[in-house]
Amino acid sequence: MSKADLAKKPAEVAAMFDVVAPTYDLTNSLLSFGQDRRWRSVVRESVFPQSGQKILDLAAGTGASSVAFLDEGVTVVAGDFSEGMLAVGRKRHPEIEFVFADATNLPFKEAEFDAVTISFGLRNVVDVKQALAEMYRVTKPGGRIVICEFSKVPNPILRPLYEFYLKRVLPAFSAISTKAPEAYGYLSESILAWPNQRDLGLMVSAAGYENVAYRNLTFGIVAVHRGFKPAAKKTKTAKTAKTTKAAKPATRKPATRKPAAKKADQ
Ligand SMILES: C[S@@+](CC[C@H](N)C(=O)[O-])C[C@H]1O[C@@H](n2cnc3c(N)ncnc32)[C@H](O)[C@@H]1O
Repeated sequence: MSKADLAKKPAEVAAMFDVVAPTYDLTNSLLSFGQDRRWRSVVRESVFPQSGQKILDLAAGTGASSVAFLDEGVTVVAGDFSEGMLAVGRKRHPEIEFVFADATNLPFKEAEFDAVTISFGLRNVVDVKQALAEMYRVTKPGGRIVICEFSKVPNPILRPLYEFYLKRVLPAFSAISTKAPEAYGYLSESILAWPNQRDLGLMVSAAGYENVAYRNLTFGIVAVHRGFKPAAKKTKTAKTAKTTKAAKPATRKPATRKPAAKKADQ
């Protein structure tokens, strides 16, 4: 099997997910000790799906992350570039629209989605900056981005234990329990090389999102980042223009820097 490495060549990443597709959901639950259900429910809370909204779940794979957003009146689009994952997803979740979509070149119009979300996908994308720019482009003004990704355990006692799990236990366990142990070797490598919570928050802010904050889950093994695309400025009518002119001049200075990511309450 082709194993992706940290160069994250798109064809190799897609081919690796094509191979693991049939057993992906089950292996995920096993390797996360069932924590994935809680992580997905926090992602749903952060996305906050509302009737009438259209939500893009990017790098959706088999749709295990997308089903969380299904609700009355909510349209969920699941995008991914692995044909193998999409095929399993279409069979498993016929109620969801699956679309072939490369995160770095999305086949969607500008401002098409109320929320754009990505779970355990951004780490695999070859050009994260370009993917964030594309996610920003397709988000409606006032809409949100939610990123769920493996992250860094801040506790100095737990961190070495977790890194031992990633470097030793996970590869050994996947060697006996999966048909594609190479894919799980890549999983460990890519988690260890991924930026910490703060640095990812800064990247999300740099893409243009405001009020970026994150929440650690399971000791920071996973972090959920959320940010908002600035709302469109209202066009002034003659009446409001007059009111604005008569009002006191603004005393707040314009922001000169993008805000850094804040840690949200647990
Ligand atoms: C670990 S799976 C996550 C699937 C799903 N979101 C979940 O939480 O179970 C990562 C997915 O990212 C997809 N992916 C990686 N790079 C991508 C890219 N550039 N564009 C679209 N999908 C990508 C892979 O094909 C794979 O299905």
